[in-house]
Amino acid sequence: MNPAVQSFFDPATWTVSHVVYDRPGGSCAIVDPVLDYDPKSGRTGTASAQKLADFVREQRLTLQWILETHAHADHLTAAPWLQAQLGGAVAIGHEITKVQGVFDKVFHLEPEFRQDGSQFDRLLADGETFAIGALQAQVLAVPGHTPACVAYQVGDAVFTGDTLFMPDVGTARCDFPGGDAAMLYRSVRRLLALPPATRLYLCHDYPPTGREPQWECTVADQRAHNIHVHDGVSEADFVAMRTARDATLEMPTLILPAIQVNIRAGQLPPAEANGVRYLKIPLNVL
Ligand SMILES: [Fe+2]
Repeated sequence: MNPAVQSFFDPATWTVSHVVYDRPGGSCAIVDPVLDYDPKSGRTGTASAQKLADFVREQRLTLQWILETHAHADHLTAAPWLQAQLGGAVAIGHEITKVQGVFDKVFHLEPEFRQDGSQFDRLLADGETFAIGALQAQVLAVPGHTPACVAYQVGDAVFTGDTLFMPDVGTARCDFPGGDAAMLYRSVRRLLALPPATRLYLCHDYPPTGREPQWECTVADQRAHNIHVHDGVSEADFVAMRTARDATLEMPTLILPAIQVNIRAGQLPPAEANGVRYLKIPLNVL
C-alpha cells in the first residue's frame, strides 16, 4: 500500500516536514517537524508546527509516530510540542547515541545527561519495520551526513533526510563531527538502487534563483540528473568534490542551538535555579 503525503516547507530554515498517512481519518507519521527559533531574541515558536497539527486534525488522523531522520543542525525539532498536542512516539536512528557522545563533550552537558538515546521513545536500527496504520514502514540506515542518519521507506515513498537534495542542488555536507563523504556516497547508492519510480521526499531545498522550492522527485530523476551523484560518478570523484566543497561552507546559523536541543529529542535544557533555560555557546570549538 502506498501512502498519501502532505509536505510543509519552512522558509526560515529551508526545511520540509512531511505528514505521511494511510487515509483521511486513518493514521499518520510526521517526519522532521520544525520548532521556530529566533536566534536574535532566543525565543522559540510553534507557528510552523501548528500547521502540521492543523492538518492532522483536519484530516482526523491519529498521530502514531514523530520520525527524525537525524539530529538536525539547521533547525530545532518540534517533536515534544507535537507529542503534547497529538500523542505519538518520537523515534530516531539508534546511532544517535554516537552523536550524543560527541556533543555531550562539545557542550559539556550536565552530569544527568544520558548518552543512551533514552530521551527518545524508540531507537530504530537498519531494517527495522513498524506500522503507520495500514502502512508498513522500514528503516534504512544512510550514514554519511551524520553517523546516525536514517531514511524511512513507506510503500513507494522514501523520506531521505539529508542524504539527497533536489537534482540541481545535489547532496548534503559531510563535515560535521562523525560525517563521512565516502559513507554518504554508499548510502546514496543504496537509495538509488530502489525501483526507479520510487518517490523521494527530501528534508530541504535550497533552490537556485528563479526556481520555487521543491521536495519531491524520483530515483530515476536522481540517477539521471543529480549534479553530485548521477549514475557514472565514482566514489572517489564524489569524495573529492564533497570534501573540497565542504571546506568552503560556513557553519549553519542554528547549529549550536539546534544540536543542543535535538540530541535531547527536542526537550530544552533543564531550567537553572532562576527557572530560566539556557543554551551554551562553546567558544573556539567548532
Ligand atoms: Fe541535516
